[in-house]
Amino acid sequence: MLVLLKDHNVFFDNPLSYKFIFLWQPDSWNLFLPNRRDFIAVCYIGRFTPPPKERLMKLFFIRYTKIIFIHLRLHKLFSPFSSLLLNLYYLTKFSAWASKNKNVPYNDFPSKWSYEKRYKLYKWVVEKEHLEYTPINYLEFGVAAGQSFLWFLGQNSNTDSRFYGFDTFTGLPEDWGPFKKGAFSNNNQPPAIDDTRAKFYQGLFQQTIHKFLPELNNNKRNVIMMDADIYSATVYTLTSLAPFLKTGDIIFFDEFAVPSHEFKAFTDFVQSFYIKLELIAAANNYYFTVFRVA
Ligand SMILES: C[S@@+](CC[C@H](N)C(=O)[O-])C[C@H]1O[C@@H](n2cnc3c(N)ncnc32)[C@H](O)[C@@H]1O
Repeated sequence: MLVLLKDHNVFFDNPLSYKFIFLWQPDSWNLFLPNRRDFIAVCYIGRFTPPPKERLMKLFFIRYTKIIFIHLRLHKLFSPFSSLLLNLYYLTKFSAWASKNKNVPYNDFPSKWSYEKRYKLYKWVVEKEHLEYTPINYLEFGVAAGQSFLWFLGQNSNTDSRFYGFDTFTGLPEDWGPFKKGAFSNNNQPPAIDDTRAKFYQGLFQQTIHKFLPELNNNKRNVIMMDADIYSATVYTLTSLAPFLKTGDIIFFDEFAVPSHEFKAFTDFVQSFYIKLELIAAANNYYFTVFRVA
């Protein structure tokens, strides 16, 4: 059977659909067709059950809501609240995630907020995961003046371990809440460190990570410190490291409880890569979290 259709969408939305459909639009046919949206459809006769009514209604609603939204330029109405709505959306997800993940051996939720809790948590993980003597790759994203970098360097004594630090050293490349672009600058210089196991990559992660990755000896356990604060840097780093992550690797997040930044990056990452990250410890009301790659 040969069917000439005016618009292929009409065809797909129509319950009179057939089992096998071949559509083509060869250029030579343009001579005979009034415009490019026309198709010739060859249908193999044999009907299949039409899609359920609720699905068609849902699709109709979604499609036309979008058309109306764009047509009426409703972004002008919603723009002032978009950041609030985004935060609310990820806070809701974060709260649900926290309730599901509360039963880990190290978790102080709910407790008084204090940034000082981070080294106690780090120490617990280092001991529990035997990171003092084994050869590791320590990768820190967001080094600034090197506080956490130096701390980890002092914790592991294995001469085969390597410590890589990534940063612009000119501060955040974009605003992050009340912190403005350029915050946490180390005056355009990596920290001075007297340990040959340490190496710094200066520049945006978006420019340095791919140059570094061929250098990574992935036979060692990776210990990753995510301390870039902002969503773009965090999601970019996790995405770039994904092919190199292996079971047992450890990932620290230093600002996990910020819903629209590190938490959003974490959520988007695990959803997109189907990688399972198991929470092993959390401190300061989930502000600092530690995961093991499952
Ligand atoms: C909070 S500071 C890091 C603090 C440090 N780990 C410490 O313990 O003191 C965040 C750092 O991330 C860096 N950063 C954020 N996004 C970046 C990006 N896309 N590329 C390079 N560095 C970035 C900033 O330059 C800043 O120094």
